[in-house]
Formats: sequence, structure tokens, C-alpha cells
Amino acid sequence: MVRSALSIGVLSATVLLGGVALTNSASAEPGAAAAAPSKAVRYPADSLRALGDRIGLRIGTAVNMDELGSNTDYTKITAEQFSSVTPENVMKWQLVEPTRGTYDWAPADRLVAFAKTNKQLVRGHTLVWHSQLPTWLSSDGYTTTLSNDELKALLKKHVQDQVKHFKGDIWQWDVVNEAFDDDGKPRQTVWYKAWGGLGYIADAFRWAHEADPKALLFYNDYNLEFTGPKSNAVYDFVKTLKAQRVPIDGVGFQGHLDTQYGFPDLQNNLQRFADLGLKVAETEVDVRTFTQAAPNVNTPTDPLAPYAQESYWSRALKACLAVRECISFTPWGFGDTYSWIPGWFDNPQEGAALLYDADLKPKSQYYVIQQDLALAAGAPRRNGPGAGH
Ligand code: G3I
Repeated sequence: MVRSALSIGVLSATVLLGGVALTNSASAEPGAAAAAPSKAVRYPADSLRALGDRIGLRIGTAVNMDELGSNTDYTKITAEQFSSVTPENVMKWQLVEPTRGTYDWAPADRLVAFAKTNKQLVRGHTLVWHSQLPTWLSSDGYTTTLSNDELKALLKKHVQDQVKHFKGDIWQWDVVNEAFDDDGKPRQTVWYKAWGGLGYIADAFRWAHEADPKALLFYNDYNLEFTGPKSNAVYDFVKTLKAQRVPIDGVGFQGHLDTQYGFPDLQNNLQRFADLGLKVAETEVDVRTFTQAAPNVNTPTDPLAPYAQESYWSRALKACLAVRECISFTPWGFGDTYSWIPGWFDNPQEGAALLYDADLKPKSQYYVIQQDLALAAGAPRRNGPGAGH
């Protein structure tokens, strides 16, 4: 990577929040804001998205729709710092069809509109999963009172209706999420049981492709970063999908990292999947560590832990930068208050996993990522913003 001084002059610093232009010209070229057309979307030249633009790498975030719009700081950061957004929850089946036969697209539509206003691409998450299913379908993802034939018809309709609803608005779809267990065996979900195997995955990709041929279709999972039974099983499986000409475009590496487990063999794993002729993406990155008991769940117990976290964030980003086919880098949210980690890992307590603290102030981890992106701009290696779209 060529190390070059950061020379920024072309991007200015106004951002459109639901149509309202906010000026923030601290790092903008003088006069740029006044000269720009009123509809232009502008953001700070040293924002993560601006730095990512310079190397054609989309920097994304998961978005909590309970905060977007109502929380001013949260909304401003979402618009200014990120060039891609992923709904953290509102495109999941449980939320789009809580009552059988009645769709509620409103929160997801609001995110898509926000993304358009702010010139962001959308990662659709997720069409086929065993978790967060509506209770009328399954309460645990593994058991159901519905017949196999009903399940097959329901999944087909769900994939087709949802992809059609958002046709043209989604950059990457996570078509199937987390179909394998850590031991590399297929997860015995309601879908696996209904099909009597993994055939539901090829079907889902085909239905999604028919409904929106331009969307990039991804398989998405966690722990693919570590070479081992799960990563190997998914690798073998997607290789088979490619051989069968199933319309799969990419593999998402979630990247839920933890300082206690060591940094994974991420770059090599991204590269071997890319070598199958696939795009890859880091889709849900966070770096958790041991933290204090409530209410200080985002205060590391070890004062040195943030240094390890900085290193993990930096290496996770650099792994993506080093693999040409890695088209987006997406942290799973940006404020520790809104992270899923403290609620999920509470014995022992873990947290402090994101780039912004509980007051939505950037942490040292943010500045490390910002610096890495700035330095990477000295070595352009991509085709420009939104490479692969
Ligand atoms: O919306 C209800 C609310 O009405 C209710 O009062 C409250 C009570 O618990 O629950 C709310 O729903 C919660 C939902 O998030 C929205 O906040 C669910 O309980 C909670 O389980 C759900 O957690 C989400 C989790 O997926 C579910 O598995 C997290 O926010 C979300 O970050 C997490 O994201 C997943 C990715 O989709 C896939 N990869 C792993 C990642 C982390 O688990």
C-alpha cells in the first residue's frame, strides 16, 4: 500500500437529511458548498464514505430504524459517514409480515428513501433465515406446525414478493443467512427439513434473480473468517452452486470479532472465496471485548483492550482492501448504545464493539479506520465508487 499524504479538495461537507441540507464545512474546500447544486449530497471530505469513495470501496452501516429520523445525531452520522446502509432488522420476515398475508414495508421503505436522498446503496438483509421468523410460521426456526408443501410455497412467495417490492433499490441482497453450523453441518432449520436438504438455497437464489436480475445476490454467514469446518463447508457449498450455475454473486463475511479469540485468517478466506469467481464483502463487522457489569456494559474491563480492538478493526479493513473483489466494508451499527452485543453476551459481559461510543462520539477505533482509508487512497486499485454495481 502506497503511503501518501491525504490531499482532499473535491468533496464538500453538506449532507441532506430527509431533504434538509445541513452544512458542515470544517473540512471542505472553501466555497464548494456555495457553488454546488442544491440537490447535491455532500459530506465531510474526511468522512469514512468520502475516503472510501476515493478507492471505490463502499463503507456501510447497519441502521436501527427506531433511531433514524428521530435521533438527530444518529441520523446525521448515518448520512455523513456511510455510503451504504443495511437495515438491522426491518427487512426480516418477522417485521415485514408479522401477520400472515399482511405486509408492512413502511420502515424498510423509509430506509430506502433515506438512502436515495443521501446517495447511499442498500444491502438488503435478509430473505431466508431461521431466526426472526414470524411466530405464525415458526417460533424457533427449527420447528413448525406448517406442512412441507406450505413452507415451500410460503418461502417462494416471500422471496418473490420482497425482492419485487424493492426491485431496483437493492445493491446486494443477503438471500440466505447462516445456513451452516460451526461444525460445518447444515443447520437443521425448517427450510432444510422442508426440502430434505440444502436445495432451498439454490431455489431462493433463482427466485431472487428472476425478481430483480440486477441485484447482487449474496450468501451471508459468521465465522467464515476463521479457516475451519464451517468456512470449508460453505466454501465447498458455494463452489457447487457456481458449478450448477445458480445465480450467486457473492459471499458476505459477517465479521463479528472478539478480542478473546485472536484475529482470524480473514484475508486468505476472502481471497479463496473470491477466487471462485465471487464478490466478497464484510457485512456485519464489530469487535467486542470483556466489559464491566451493567450499567457500564461498554467500558472494557482491561484498559488496554481498546488497543487490541484498534488492531482488529484495522486488520479487518485491510483484509478487504487487499482483496480486489471485496466491494464493501460494513460495521454492524456505529454507536455502542445500539449494538446487539451487550444484550446478547452478558455472562460474562461483553460490549464496546463499535466505532462510536455510547454518546455517539467517535472512538480511537474510528480514527484508525479513517487513517487506514486515507492512506489507502494513495494506491487506487478499484474501478471507482460502487465497483461491481
Ligand atoms: O421489536 C421488538 C420490541 O417490540 C420488543 O419490545 C423487544 C423486546 O425484547 O424486542 C424487539 O425486537 C428485538 C429486535 O432485535 C429489534 O430490536 C428482538 O427482541 C431482538 O432479538 C432483535 O435482535 C436482533 C438480532 O439480529 C436477532 O437475531 C439484533 O437487533 C440484530 O442486530 C441482530 O442481527 C444479526 C443479523 O441479522 C445476522 N447476523 C447476526 C446479527 C447479530 O445477531
